[in-house]
Amino acid sequence: TTTAIEPVDSSDADAPSPEGNTTADKLSDLADRVDSALHQGGAAAVSRQHANGRRTARERIDALLDPGSFLELDALARHRSTVASMAARRPYGDGVITGTGTIDGRTVAVFSQDATVFGGSLGEVHGEKIAKVMDLAVKIGCPLVGINDGGGARIQEGVGTMGQYGGIFYRNVRCSGVVPQISLVMGPCAGGAVYSPALTDFIVMVDRTSHMFLTGPEVIRTVTGEEVDLEELGGGRLHNSRSGVAHYLASDEADALDYVRALLDYLPSNNLSEAKVYPGSDTGTLTATDLELDTIVPDSPIQAYDMYGVITRVLDDGEFLEVHELFAPNIIVGFGRVDGRSVGVVANQPMHLAGCLNIDASAKAAGFIRTCDAFGIPVLTFVDVPGFLPGTDQEWGGIIRHGAKLIYAYAEAVVPMVTVTTRKAYGGSYGAMGSKHLGVDVNLAWPTAQIAVTGASAAVNLLNRRELAALEGGELAARRAELVREYEESASPYLAADRGYVDAVIPPSHTRGRVAGALRLLATKRVDTPPRRHGNIPL
Ligand code: HXC
Repeated sequence: TTTAIEPVDSSDADAPSPEGNTTADKLSDLADRVDSALHQGGAAAVSRQHANGRRTARERIDALLDPGSFLELDALARHRSTVASMAARRPYGDGVITGTGTIDGRTVAVFSQDATVFGGSLGEVHGEKIAKVMDLAVKIGCPLVGINDGGGARIQEGVGTMGQYGGIFYRNVRCSGVVPQISLVMGPCAGGAVYSPALTDFIVMVDRTSHMFLTGPEVIRTVTGEEVDLEELGGGRLHNSRSGVAHYLASDEADALDYVRALLDYLPSNNLSEAKVYPGSDTGTLTATDLELDTIVPDSPIQAYDMYGVITRVLDDGEFLEVHELFAPNIIVGFGRVDGRSVGVVANQPMHLAGCLNIDASAKAAGFIRTCDAFGIPVLTFVDVPGFLPGTDQEWGGIIRHGAKLIYAYAEAVVPMVTVTTRKAYGGSYGAMGSKHLGVDVNLAWPTAQIAVTGASAAVNLLNRRELAALEGGELAARRAELVREYEESASPYLAADRGYVDAVIPPSHTRGRVAGALRLLATKRVDTPPRRHGNIPL
């Protein structure tokens, strides 16, 4: 752990140890250097960091990793800049702490930018250290956790620093789908620096103390005349709820680190290994919680119910780690376990926009499915979707392009996939939400499922317009109700079951057992895909 002391000027650290040249002198010299490397920021900068509600880079590593597991790399690396203002001070570590350690006994690679040294800005050596630990993560197949807190490209080091950023982006992309990459943003992350986190699988931000933006408030004011403060422009809440850049809004740093540890527990170390398997919970008997599912869907098709109630009753111990919770709440994504094994859950939420798919929901679910597929985590989908959200906003915003991402993600995925239709599955959204036709392996439906081209009201209005126009009052209401009933019968899950589009219609209470059985069956799933460079997902 770091204790605050005055900044150490290590500019003459290459000089031989003054005391002498014995082995004891050399060991003592090493101890001094290592101690100095632990305390590069200085008391004032450390106090400032704490006063801003932030921990130091080393405190964060200590809190993230299993106690005593951190093995530091390049603690004695220093910048080589000859710019006068820089040459005078060459702190050990160059403003970033890198190395490996364990989380719950599993190895992770980590870098943590030190805002107390050159404001955590990325110089050439700082960049080389990050690149080195990224290369190591891929070589040994362990997750990479990056803790970002700094001023971006170190201005004094010019193009050298930008080259390093480019190299980090390149590695982020090469690591993508090979090892999980998680970014914690725990302070400023500005300019082109934002693109390294943006290329990783998950971004965790801390409420009020972390910010991400390409151009800051000052530049925006000058260029566009807009007045916006840092929090509104790029605070954690903004990026979690509006831009969708971040996947979790932590209440404080401890919460952020806890979330990362929880996330890693559901993920494998790399694309060739399996996520941790816990003892199974499926005993083959119905529990009281299972039976509660039989009454969860309301009788009225227009009454909402909470899809979290379905998800938590199917997952082991009701535990669900949500991802992207504040963004597009009309779709829910996150991790849980079924019978001890990790699954990725995708579910429409009738409580928001009636569970419609819109631009944000499509992109959110597509991204999550691809993350699951990259790391061999089965996808479990719960469907209650009345359609794609109508409106010029959506059409002009490119719902066609973004909705296509969702279809693409399902159709491209090779992991085991199970879909449960609880209620509505209408039209295009039926096709897009994990339908059999997209390669989903096991499709289950509850007897409350309505699988149809469109909702009953809309269908009756369209198909029976002339007949209904000739009626009025009670006669009109009675005839409309009759037509709606007739249509709803034709939208029953049994027509889909007739064609094998659903494999079984099941009582809701049997869902947990049937899903567990399906996933056991699919554990050996293999899919042959024709050779190609890569598919061309619509972006
Ligand atoms: C060198 C920097 C620095 C930088 C901060 N410092 N940013 N030094 N290069 N980019 C130094 C400051 O000079 C100061 O040094 C110390 O770090 C702390 O900075 P403060 O400004 O006092 O801290 P604070 O008020 O907390 O503000 C933090 C900040 C601000 C919001 C990050 O420093 C800032 O706006 N920095 C510049 C951000 C930026 O424009 N970066 C370039 C982005 S472009 P002293 O010695 O006084 O303690 C980019 C390109 C990527 O990254 C390339 C991609 C290809």
